Amino acid sequence: MNSDYAFDLQLPFKSPLTDMSVIHRDGSEPDIFFIDHKDVSEEYLNWIDEQGLVMTYPPLIFYTPVKHQIGIHIDGPGELIDRACMNWCVQGVGSLMHWYDVKDGRSPFEETNTQAGTPYTQYHPKDLNHLHSQTVKWPTVVQTGIPHNVTNSVWEPRWVISCDLSFKDRPNDGLTINEAKELFSKWTV
Ligand SMILES: [Fe+2]
Repeated sequence: MNSDYAFDLQLPFKSPLTDMSVIHRDGSEPDIFFIDHKDVSEEYLNWIDEQGLVMTYPPLIFYTPVKHQIGIHIDGPGELIDRACMNWCVQGVGSLMHWYDVKDGRSPFEETNTQAGTPYTQYHPKDLNHLHSQTVKWPTVVQTGIPHNVTNSVWEPRWVISCDLSFKDRPNDGLTINEAKELFSKWTV
């Protein structure tokens, strides 16, 4: 599906990682952790390089247990931005990602850090309007700069390999959704 908040790609290689076992932490609570640059596959690194891009930081893994709903958040400090990430979803059949608009005059209730040490801003549902919901695939480019969350189904745990990409000459800036749409138009399905 292609929306203002996310779009699916079909890329000319199998996996962003060489060894998928590095993502498989589990347990009854959600988890977020970085994996090592060395676990990124050669094919993915070459493809990123061919697009004129670099990885802003190593891939982050988001683990969501079965029947879990992640709180609504922005992956960053407390301001709305436009930031696209390339997310690869493993299992999580029936899971959905949701996006929200902040109601006038409302603000986040907490700015904190994830278990991985990345900034994380949280919102109450009463302060938001639902905008859109969509499944994350293999991969889907998603907007992470506005409030969003994930609901997982009862069937399978879910892992997402989340890759933040940047232009080589602005290696810390990330991509906006429109920059990503233009860059990846050839692979959009
Ligand atoms: Fe997020």
